[in-house]
Amino acid sequence: MSPEQQGGPQTAAKVAPAKGKLGVMVVGLGAVATTMIAGVEAVRRGLAKPIGSLTQMGTIRLGKRTDNNSPLIKNFAPLADLNDVVFTGWDIFEDNVYESAAHAKVLEKETLEQLRPYLEAIKPLPAVFDQYYVKRLNGTHVKKGKNKMDLANQVREDIRNFRKTVDRVVMIWCGSTEIFLEPTAVHKTIESFEKGLEKDDIGIAPSQIYAYAALIEGVPFANGAPNLTVDLPCMIELSKKNNAPICGKDFKTGQTFMKTVLAPAFKTRMLGVSGWYSTNILGNRDGEVLDDPESFKTKEESKLGSLEYIFQPELYPDLYANIFHKVRINYYPPRGDNKEGWDNIDIFGWLGYPMQIKVDFLCRDSILAAPIALDLVLFLDLAQRSPELRSIGIQEWLSFYLKSPQTREGLYPEHDLFIQSMKLKNTLRHIMGADLITHLGLEYYD
Ligand SMILES: NC(=O)c1ccc[n+]([C@@H]2O[C@H](COP(=O)([O-])OP(=O)(O)OC[C@H]3O[C@@H](n4cnc5c(N)ncnc54)[C@H](O)[C@@H]3O)[C@@H](O)[C@H]2O)c1
Repeated sequence: MSPEQQGGPQTAAKVAPAKGKLGVMVVGLGAVATTMIAGVEAVRRGLAKPIGSLTQMGTIRLGKRTDNNSPLIKNFAPLADLNDVVFTGWDIFEDNVYESAAHAKVLEKETLEQLRPYLEAIKPLPAVFDQYYVKRLNGTHVKKGKNKMDLANQVREDIRNFRKTVDRVVMIWCGSTEIFLEPTAVHKTIESFEKGLEKDDIGIAPSQIYAYAALIEGVPFANGAPNLTVDLPCMIELSKKNNAPICGKDFKTGQTFMKTVLAPAFKTRMLGVSGWYSTNILGNRDGEVLDDPESFKTKEESKLGSLEYIFQPELYPDLYANIFHKVRINYYPPRGDNKEGWDNIDIFGWLGYPMQIKVDFLCRDSILAAPIALDLVLFLDLAQRSPELRSIGIQEWLSFYLKSPQTREGLYPEHDLFIQSMKLKNTLRHIMGADLITHLGLEYYD
């Protein structure tokens, strides 16, 4: 197939170069955020490698296997250079990034000391916060306003001030998990949402206030938590209208990452599953917040979603119609950020004979999440510079990073990690005018 037929170099609208500074506004300067920020600085200084980051270490094959052409993704697509990334953020506590990172105990003291002056200089702006939405937290470094619209305007002001110092801005939620909320009439349109802000509608959580402020200012928004934030009609409308890309939610780091690798493997081999029991012990602040049943419910919904979509029980009732799927998270302080995730999987094979698989993942939560947060920021910035992506709103190609992918209404989400990876890379090829790779491979046998 010729390049023209596949949207090759002649037809692809050009992605604008990443000129100048990229400002990253992080909501919530806790474990994940500080691990990302300190990590980026450590990489910039040559102290460590950006392991786990596709944008920094990943390659992309172009052309045939025999062409031997696999450049680094960051050399193929015009991503912002790490040296051009500038961080700021909000938190309900006054701790600077050094203090917060020390509290999180993810990175070693020695590493933090080397970066100390840089990290200390990043001080949080006062946050939009309401304890009704995160029961286990209570901070004092918060904005005051006459209503939610006033608070949104204050966040807009923060964005505008930051924008004076950088060339482009992206926002990412690395804040706590809020209580479980469902969409209501207030979320239907931009107008109804704005009225709701004026009237302090209870369905509008702080994460939605930040997202609204970002999108109305034309700033792309990523959501690292499972909160109901941009998966709302009003936000999708705003995202499209203002060329401010959005994507799904909840970083896919530990257990769900493993699930979206293993479940497709069972399905590909037509092996049945009768039960999947997942439990976690976790001792960081995130674990403490998730100890509250209302925040846990938000996380549970997000964690439960993937299997149902991957297994497609409606297509394979003999294999997957009766899965018992359970997810637990237990707050256990001694482990800190070093989460342990256990999975017991009951599968069955030929003639229905049962087997078991046990997974014990002794992971480091924020070490897994930090590169995901970084990649999302860099890819959303790229999307905003792509004429083909900037106005479509939801960036489904970023599902790769998220427990709850976001899709257009009526479209089921793709959870299989390898399909997601293929979608991501083909999207990059497409926007850069390279041929897509289908893995058909018949041309090698002509
Ligand atoms: N680490 C992982 O592997 C992982 C994976 C998926 C999702 N997440 C989600 O990412 C989020 C961050 O995780 P973490 O481990 O860094 O948690 P954390 O508790 O260390 O950090 C969250 C920070 O957000 C702040 N915060 C809460 N509400 C805020 C608000 N309204 N405005 C500004 N700041 C606010 C808190 O004060 C805290 O400093 C959580 O929602 C978590 O569920 C983490």
